[in-house]
Amino acid sequence: MRGTVVKLGLVLAAMLLLLSTGSVATATPATQAGEYSSDDFAYESKCRQCHAIIYAEWEGTMHFNAYLDPFYLEEVKIASEDTNGSLDEFCSRCHTPIGVVSGEIPPIDGSEMSDIAKLGVQCDFCHVVSGSNGTGNAQFTVTPGNTKWGPFDDARGNYHESEYLELFTQSEYCGMCHQVINPVNGLVIDDTYSTWKDSQYAEENVVCQDCHMTEGITQFKANPGRAGSGAPKRDHIPLHDIVGANTLIPPMFGAENVADMAVERLQKATIMDISAPETASAGDEILIDLSITNSGAGHKIPTGVSEIREMWLELTVTDANGDIIYNAGSVDADGNIIDAKVLYNNVLADIEGKETKSFWLAESVLEDNRIGPKETVTEEHSFVMPENAAYPLTVQSTLKYRSAPQDMIDKLLGEETGVPVVDMNEISAIIYDPSTPADERNQPESGSTSTPGFSALTAAMVLGITMYILKRK
Ligand code: HEC
Ligand code: HEC
Ligand code: HEC
Ligand code: HEC
Ligand code: HEC
Repeated sequence: MRGTVVKLGLVLAAMLLLLSTGSVATATPATQAGEYSSDDFAYESKCRQCHAIIYAEWEGTMHFNAYLDPFYLEEVKIASEDTNGSLDEFCSRCHTPIGVVSGEIPPIDGSEMSDIAKLGVQCDFCHVVSGSNGTGNAQFTVTPGNTKWGPFDDARGNYHESEYLELFTQSEYCGMCHQVINPVNGLVIDDTYSTWKDSQYAEENVVCQDCHMTEGITQFKANPGRAGSGAPKRDHIPLHDIVGANTLIPPMFGAENVADMAVERLQKATIMDISAPETASAGDEILIDLSITNSGAGHKIPTGVSEIREMWLELTVTDANGDIIYNAGSVDADGNIIDAKVLYNNVLADIEGKETKSFWLAESVLEDNRIGPKETVTEEHSFVMPENAAYPLTVQSTLKYRSAPQDMIDKLLGEETGVPVVDMNEISAIIYDPSTPADERNQPESGSTSTPGFSALTAAMVLGITMYILKRK
């Protein structure tokens, strides 16, 4: 009974979204739980025989991990308990789609799951998608079997039949899962697709695949090559290292390369600016404006489970002796963020209006501090210039990102799991003694923008220093 209510809710929520975006050309009915058996799907090891490069790109990404992700497994256990199992199928439909359409999950503990269902979002799920009933809440139609659907209308191969489906080249394909709506109350809890749809990118037809399935990161970049052994040469072969911002989970599966790609992506997402006085005297009130522009992401940053993600600015002012005059947003030894002015994320509230990160219990949005595509936000800091500071002062600000609060991961995965803090961008300025002649007041090179024209220091950090793990006791 409860399941039926939830299912109805799912359909309703998807219909509402369809009405508001009007995107999908021809809707096909979503595949129901238990319609197929897991034996109907082919193991990725089969596809790997001919599509070895694609396999290597996909391995270790969050699609590969979508079910075995320990953060997901802990959270879904809690969600299941909180809702008496009524959301089990809902959550699993995106995180283990084969598990759901083969009726192997629920039970949510995974005790009846085949090995293939545990492989998350995989080759022979994504390429047997033969249609969709719209964006949001995984309204996919799958037809497992010998035909593989994809982006080419002239694919040649003899192992399987190939069929062209335009959906593969559109954001609506990704939007099936990257738009999550609470089936009980209709609250949108992941709006990646809809924030893209409302942006300039959608108007200019820059789709998810352009940034996430090419090396362009912030735009389309062709990748000439072959799709597999025996396949013809083509002007563009979409890549399968579909990476976002997660640096916590991929290394747990030995995929440091995926975390490195996430760091690179985060570092291309923004432009920063700073406004600080060129000179100041003791007793002056110093105002520093820092601005962040979402210049590179086709949706808000952060996006996805953005009530869990954390982005913030650290600002440190030091004098010539290295003494700290002002600091906001540093991370202490326990992983707590100290005095950040703004936490750029989404704040959800439960039925009592209390803040919650358990999005399945959310009833409303308390605050949304994320930065929309092409949007610029500014935060202001102020302090009083002390008497005995040694000139000049260095003002240094770094934009930080992490996948989850440290205390949340401490509780779920144990205190030995340090959540990496990524430096996304940085900017600095110098404040001089008013007696310094104007022509001797040099400002740092990075004085206006940093990414994509990154400073040498940051470029060096891409090589791995950026992703420092907090030293845990
Ligand atoms: C999240 C869903 C998803 C997964 C998982 C996935 N693909 Fe794809 N694949 C796509 C999409 C979408 C495209 C088309 C992208 C475009 O046109 O820009 C594509 C394109 C392709 C193509 C056409 C040429 C090329 O290289 O892109 C082949 C072949 C292919 N995939 C095979 C595979 C294999 C093999 C795997 C498993 C190792 C796999 N795919 C995993 C969604 C997926
Ligand atoms: C025996 C070799 C072989 C195996 C095994 C194989 N493929 Fe292919 N596949 C090919 C060739 C060759 C093409 C044609 C590529 C082209 O025309 O550029 C192709 C094309 C594709 C396409 C593109 C279809 C289109 O119309 O856009 C997809 C998707 C695809 N394969 C998925 C898979 C999946 C999923 C598996 C595993 C279940 C798999 N392949 C196993 C050889 C193979
Ligand atoms: C113009 C390029 C661009 C487009 C278009 C784009 N993205 Fe992104 N995406 C990025 C960049 C850059 C990041 C890294 C910054 C961030 O985390 O938002 C990112 C991050 C992400 C993340 C990780 C978010 C997080 O903070 O945890 C997801 C998930 C994602 N994108 C999905 C999508 C989907 C789905 C679409 C299409 C609806 C899409 N993206 C369209 C560039 C793009
Ligand atoms: C069947 C549902 C499904 C489809 C279709 C799908 N995804 Fe995903 N995707 C997921 C799930 C589930 C995760 C997250 C797994 C986790 O974090 O445990 C994910 C993760 C990601 C991430 C990594 C996010 C991060 O924080 O690093 C990116 C980027 C992404 N998807 C982009 C895409 C794009 C682009 C497409 C379309 C080509 C797409 N996805 C299609 C379900 C899907
Ligand atoms: C419509 C598809 C969909 C549904 C339904 C869904 N998720 Fe997800 N989930 C995703 C996608 C896509 C991501 C990745 C977004 C991002 O990177 O921030 C994700 C990410 C997560 C993450 C973060 C994992 C990480 O490693 O950072 C957790 C935890 C999670 N989901 C739990 C759940 C639970 C619990 C439910 C059910 C209450 C659920 N999800 C329902 C698509 C879905």
